[in-house]
Amino acid sequence: MQDDKGARAKGEKFYLTTAIDYVNGEPHLGHAYEKIAADVISRFKRLAGYDTFFLTGTDEHSLNVARKAESEGLTPKEFCDRMVSLFKRAWDVLNIRYDRFIRTTDDDHIATVQDMVRRASERGYIYEGTYSGWYCVSCEAFLREDDLVEGHCPLHPSKKVEWVEEKNYFFALSKFQEPLLRHIEEHPEFIQPETRRNEIVNRLKEGLQDVSISRSTMAWGVPMPLDERQVVYVWFDALINYVTGAGYMAGPDQFNKWWPADLHLIGKDITWFHCVIWPAMLMACGFPLPRTVFGHGFVNIKGAKMSKTEGTVIDPVTLAQRFGADALRFYLMREIPFGRDGDFSIEGLIHCYNSDLANDLGNLLNRTMAMTDKFLDGVIPGPGAGRALAPDRAFIEESLAAVRAARAKMEGLDFSGAIEEIWRVVTGGNKYIDERAPWSLAKSEETREELNTVMYNVAEALRIAAITLTPFMPAACEKIWNQLGLTGSPQDAGWDQAERWGVIPPGTRIRRGSPIFPRIEEGEKAVSQEKVSHETEGHAEKATEKPAETPTEKPGPEGEGLITIDEFARVNLRVAKVVDAAKVQGADKLLRLEVDLGGERRQIVAGIALQYSPAELIGKEIVVVANLKPAKLRGLISQGMLLAAVAEDGRLSVLTTDREIGAGAKVR
Ligand code: MSP
Repeated sequence: MQDDKGARAKGEKFYLTTAIDYVNGEPHLGHAYEKIAADVISRFKRLAGYDTFFLTGTDEHSLNVARKAESEGLTPKEFCDRMVSLFKRAWDVLNIRYDRFIRTTDDDHIATVQDMVRRASERGYIYEGTYSGWYCVSCEAFLREDDLVEGHCPLHPSKKVEWVEEKNYFFALSKFQEPLLRHIEEHPEFIQPETRRNEIVNRLKEGLQDVSISRSTMAWGVPMPLDERQVVYVWFDALINYVTGAGYMAGPDQFNKWWPADLHLIGKDITWFHCVIWPAMLMACGFPLPRTVFGHGFVNIKGAKMSKTEGTVIDPVTLAQRFGADALRFYLMREIPFGRDGDFSIEGLIHCYNSDLANDLGNLLNRTMAMTDKFLDGVIPGPGAGRALAPDRAFIEESLAAVRAARAKMEGLDFSGAIEEIWRVVTGGNKYIDERAPWSLAKSEETREELNTVMYNVAEALRIAAITLTPFMPAACEKIWNQLGLTGSPQDAGWDQAERWGVIPPGTRIRRGSPIFPRIEEGEKAVSQEKVSHETEGHAEKATEKPAETPTEKPGPEGEGLITIDEFARVNLRVAKVVDAAKVQGADKLLRLEVDLGGERRQIVAGIALQYSPAELIGKEIVVVANLKPAKLRGLISQGMLLAAVAEDGRLSVLTTDREIGAGAKVR
């Protein structure tokens, strides 16, 4: 996206899309990573003045979905509806502000797919033929004989490939080899990062085969307009979502406003579909091509792909509930250089939280607030007249240079690089305070002007940090903004304001609040308070105020085992409806329950099989601890714990609700 730099005027449109997720499983950290990155881009573009449209959604017509739905006794649409609510909830929790959530089952999408198929056919790019070959259901893709590794799909070696033979419609992909190679060469920004472009170019040079774009053995899909007994191949259908999302059915004015897409953000595993098949489809229809397809890397666990069998599929909602959406978003964007693969670990997240968010950013805010309160009666002063000394000027210049560099990095989708630049303002702010020692300046009237200058400057640094970090941590940045006593929001302020110094009106009264990133103590156990700066009280003293929402697990007063209401509040007790229950084979005491937590399905393994039969529990509302770390029991993941009363003699009574209240209700 290098040619974005300064080349495009404000108010120009920016149409951004993500891959649309398969709904045969729940949203995981990999899906979340992509949506977070897209949200960061979209918020940044808005901040920079672009008229932005951000599309995300779900890819529902897959064979896997049809099979899963059938195994659960649901229609595919019913099954999708249930899964879609989980995706939407996850994106809500992660603060992902899309403009449209598209589903491939949406009416306007179905109509768009049919229209594009008709169009490509009329222009001579679709013909009838017979397909026979291997199909990988997990990829939803046909494989060539030489793609197979020992008879299996290279990406899904544990699954079987299926032999498919049927009358199909074909898309004349082979006609596009030359035009695609030319386009890629003439538009270096088309495939990013460069490594992906090279992969695609090399593969393209090997030649292209026509691809089958319909299935006659499946009923779940968009009916082929040329033959209603067939459905459109799921990838052909899914890719078209980008055109639907641009408002194709709403007419040319709407469509031309947004199309072509400025950025398709997708994972590296699906670049072939987006960089070859998709542009060829668009060329076949006579539509302009997207400006850029960016293939991001994968989030791995200990260097390996997340895997259901290994129990390493991470639920982003649980993480966000535990550490806050902001911290999770920040960690992923800071730690994984965008475009490359990276590892996720809880330890890494905690480390990043404590060092960057609690120690650096949180501390800069806390000490600024505390000193403004103490030395200036809670009012941000005007910078002292004629008293800007060399260190003051250096701090201002370095900060502004860092913000300009951060903008260029944001435009280039180098998020970790941008954060590094912004951190120059944050750590620079802390250093500046240390050097200029406002607590000493406050001791004498003679240094009053200097004190004013220093305190004004650190408030400015915080204002700038709040604007530039808002794409990454929208909620925390709003809090910083509010504590500074500013009106509006950092998002509305716009990036340009971050490149200016001296924006806070002198006389602004701060609204000091609790620490926004209280430190997480070792082992995630005790979450204690943010280190409040010692400067207000002289040197070397740490304050010990404890934020209300972050209790510790230390024993209560006088070690009597009493807990505070805040400690109790850490346990997320919720009503869950038992949807299914079954005995666990080979474990007399265990029942496997499937519960509905109000739009979210969980599996809970409970040691109650001697006292309860599965049938007794189905349909009941029970009480569960919803934020318990998942545990493995007899190879089964238990995502929570049910509550039961236990008598001295071992009798058990599962806690239920006295009157029906609905799954998901909080228990307090
Ligand atoms: N439905 C297709 C995409 C169709 S787009 C027209 C699909 N779905 S998916 O659910 O398998 O993946 C959705 C997105 O998540 C893809 O971009 C994929 O690369 C991304 N990721 C899936 N696992 C991932 C990680 N572990 N890490 C990062 N992104 C990953 O493909």
